[in-house]
Amino acid sequence: MKMTAKRTLAVLLAVIMLFSCIGISGSATEKTGFETLRVNCTMYGDSQTQRGFTWFTEKKCDTTIQIVPASEYVVSGFANAMTVKGTVSEWKDYYCHKVVVTGLEPGTDYRYRVGTYDRDIWSNLGEFVTDDGDGSFSFLAIADVQASNLENFYRASLVMDEAMKMDEDAEFVINLGDFVNDCTNDKWNWYGEAFQEANTSMTLVPVAGNHEGNITNKLNVGWFDAMFNLLPGDGAGNGVNGTYYSYDYGNTHFTVLNSNDMYPMTEAQRNWIYNDITNSDAQWKVLLLHRAVYSAGKNINKPDTLAMRETVIEIVDETGVDLVLSGHDHMYFRTKQVAGDAVCEDTVYVTERHNGEDITFAVNPEGAIYALPSTAGTKRYGVNDGAINPIMDCADVYFTTRSEKDENEVETNPNAGGCFANIEVDGNYLVYKAYVVNDDTQEVTLVDEYAIKKTVKDDAVEGTNKPTDIFGSLDGSVANFFTEIFGLIFTYIGKLLPQALIGLFK
Ligand SMILES: [Fe+2]
Repeated sequence: MKMTAKRTLAVLLAVIMLFSCIGISGSATEKTGFETLRVNCTMYGDSQTQRGFTWFTEKKCDTTIQIVPASEYVVSGFANAMTVKGTVSEWKDYYCHKVVVTGLEPGTDYRYRVGTYDRDIWSNLGEFVTDDGDGSFSFLAIADVQASNLENFYRASLVMDEAMKMDEDAEFVINLGDFVNDCTNDKWNWYGEAFQEANTSMTLVPVAGNHEGNITNKLNVGWFDAMFNLLPGDGAGNGVNGTYYSYDYGNTHFTVLNSNDMYPMTEAQRNWIYNDITNSDAQWKVLLLHRAVYSAGKNINKPDTLAMRETVIEIVDETGVDLVLSGHDHMYFRTKQVAGDAVCEDTVYVTERHNGEDITFAVNPEGAIYALPSTAGTKRYGVNDGAINPIMDCADVYFTTRSEKDENEVETNPNAGGCFANIEVDGNYLVYKAYVVNDDTQEVTLVDEYAIKKTVKDDAVEGTNKPTDIFGSLDGSVANFFTEIFGLIFTYIGKLLPQALIGLFK
């Protein structure tokens, strides 16, 4: 083993031991079973006044949160805190605690702790900020941590640490799905331990991945719903395969889809999306979903993705979405402005001074940008040159973030590392940046940047008032299981096979 590799391993083990020691309050003493695990604070409806909280314990106890503005916390701690009780239910040999806190003040820094009031056992100090509604804010996005062991969860959390250092003012983080590789208690505990700092430093916006809510993926059903406290959209069903929801933040509307429910998408979700987005008059519209519909990774030609492409692209085009963020394919990909599955060739760009930087903006562009910020984890895919048409025509920037070392262990891929995105919304300006974090040095490198200036709102899109109850009363997972199988077969035969045959005879 090379000296540098040995040193890296030693540093990593030291970091793991350090984090293990400070991870959970009370871990230095004998465990009681009432310690809080997997603590997170999630967006829950009104981002100015509400949040959802989830945590787990090994033994059953009461469910309590104490929460107080940061300005009061520095004076009197939790002495005058608001105390809110929640519910507890059993989930896979653990106890799942959930609380919704309402009545918060907009634009306020909060401190909180969760745990058992009766036994006076509490989590570490958590914090988050509520939306002040002024249309100027920033957020982070990561995808596909999808680890199988504690070391790789910690490696991904180091990427998240760098993201939080890069933008200390970020108000929430979007996790684009596949939190874990397999849904077991060990893996969710490792995720919760490694991401404790991130998940209790700001609000989390979780997106359902196929590894935590897909009936055909090792029956990992129900976990997403158990792990996060969210306010599902109309017709979202019982949450066994994930959920969909939305929220406003400042001048931006965020719609979170459930791509475990998309091949074909249930009528309930499709109609909810149309109603949700078209009923919003926000300046910016951002769509979040796990499976990318523009990517050059290994999954892009798979039948489930092909089945989704037309539906999702049509929704984005018809509802005036500006930015789509996805995961699933573990490589970096960003489109040009696209509409109708084609490049918007007439896009006009201007370079302006913005917050101390010269930034090139697309000005009032048609179409949307689709970005896939690779993975914050260590499982990284190469570029799939055979991505179905017209993916590559629509691509602006794409590359693998996989390590490619030569025989002397020297990294040859300048983009190797864990990836995150940082998005700033500032009134009429939206600036998207992506970074990679070097595995060995933790050096952070800007790898992509794209910006939009929108001085005129999109033409009002007619609200479609689609019904939300066509499949809403059915169990989505059962209906989806059969439609999925047949959908995959027909889509595969109908779309990919002709292209493969054409390729053969070229
Ligand atoms: Fe995935």
